[in-house]
Amino acid sequence: MRFQKAEVSSPASIANFGPGFDSFGLCLASPVDRISISRVDGDEFAVKVEGAQGLTEKAEENTASYAALKLAERCECEHKGFSMTIQKGMKPGSGIGSSAASSVGGAVAMAALLGVRDKRLILEAAAKGEELISGSRHFDNVAAALYGGFTFVSDHASKSIVRIEPPEFEVVVLLPEIEIRTADAREILPKSVPMADAVENLSWAAGMVHSMMKKDLDAIAHHMNDRLAIPYRQGLVPGYASVRESALNAGALAVSIGGSGPAVFAIAREKTDRIQQAMVEALMSSAGLESESFVTKPGTGAKVLSAT
Ligand code: HSE
Repeated sequence: MRFQKAEVSSPASIANFGPGFDSFGLCLASPVDRISISRVDGDEFAVKVEGAQGLTEKAEENTASYAALKLAERCECEHKGFSMTIQKGMKPGSGIGSSAASSVGGAVAMAALLGVRDKRLILEAAAKGEELISGSRHFDNVAAALYGGFTFVSDHASKSIVRIEPPEFEVVVLLPEIEIRTADAREILPKSVPMADAVENLSWAAGMVHSMMKKDLDAIAHHMNDRLAIPYRQGLVPGYASVRESALNAGALAVSIGGSGPAVFAIAREKTDRIQQAMVEALMSSAGLESESFVTKPGTGAKVLSAT
């Protein structure tokens, strides 16, 4: 069934989630972007961005409208006139999958308008939106934002995604007041890594997937390690070592960097107020940086709020 107007919400997510560089993603319950799209007369695609500075409103350059356009093209949609409003609920460049939230939201909104239900088509269109911004077509954030829960890419060539329902836990997120472009954070990664590091990550990643399947939070925390990206990137996040130590001392079960940073996240069963405060204070005392922070939980993915 085809509609005139659709509104969707699309959530933040944490890519890599410890050992799963470019593979693991955890969907967050909040914050979300809200995206609405309508059919309009003519052949112009008008885009309006609210709630964030500096994002382009050119349809071919904005990640949400670009993903929507890619889905419309793939579905051979002949209608060309659209109007899209993107209400950003999260800060771009902060490491919680802002561009993926927008691209998934744009693709899901267009899919709702066109009556398309095939999630593979939506995923591929969303990944093109992500690629436009980051310069690389990685599926970790987009899969988590689209499918919800804990996701991983089980085969990059066929873009196979596996979703696991995580156990209940709290996620404390700290967003230092700096911005890191994903493309820059990818540029500093080495082209090859020592075999011992690859083996260690492989073991941690297998342990993480097994722990998620068993819904064993202590084991999830135990496997929250990484030698493929964080050792090279942690210098981009001032005060990371101090924030991590303070969060663990305040009761966090594990701490890592969200995606390409600068977000730092902690997982916990309880004491989230204490952990949040400890992280904010440690960032200020060790690096002199202000931050935004919030507490959330694993989420269930992008949703169509209305289609009329
Ligand atoms: N896996 C990607 C990276 C996520 O770490 O570069 C970027 O958001």
